[in-house]
Amino acid sequence: MLEDISKVLLTEEQIREIVERLGKRITEDYKDKNLLMVGILKGSVMFMADLIREVKIPCRIDFMSVSSYGSGTESTGAVKIIKDLDINLEGYDLLIVEDILDSGKTLDYITGILKTRRLNSIRICTFLDKPERRVVDLKADYSGTTVPDEFVVGYGLDYDEKYRNLPFLGVLKTEVYAK
Ligand code: IMP
Ligand code: MG
Repeated sequence: MLEDISKVLLTEEQIREIVERLGKRITEDYKDKNLLMVGILKGSVMFMADLIREVKIPCRIDFMSVSSYGSGTESTGAVKIIKDLDINLEGYDLLIVEDILDSGKTLDYITGILKTRRLNSIRICTFLDKPERRVVDLKADYSGTTVPDEFVVGYGLDYDEKYRNLPFLGVLKTEVYAK
């Protein structure tokens, strides 16, 4: 697995610092709100698990699953809900938790759907942001860090469902997906 990585972008220690910083901001911003953190499966699982432990106010969690990529590295733009939320959203301040904001199509679709439901507010928290690749006009309210236009894996992010279990964030060698 490690031989497929060309370089380490974020070490475990750097990831910890990013998550702590985001957790502090969320704790402060949501102290008088009714926070529901919504993780987008599966890429956000590590980030979500770490982030909620840095949030020091009461909060609920739920998960949603959408399809978009297939096994390639480019978004197809065809997004569909595979698993919807279990919680009735009325009265909640939703914070969508995503692994990476790339073209923006996935989050644009998800926020579009959720906004039609009754809720107090909705914001986006992404671990990574790849602004160079954006095709829809969407900004994250909370972003861990920006990454260059390279395909990254680890800390939940996959290529063809692999590499999610790497504890750091790395760049995948191009020959792995050019094959
Ligand atoms: P978007 O709809 O193009 O913004 O794509 C968002 C989704 O694509 C993310 O939730 C990831 O699952 C996936 N994705 C985008 N870029 C990368 C990457 O560099 N590595 C791994 N997955 C990625
Ligand atoms: Mg994904």
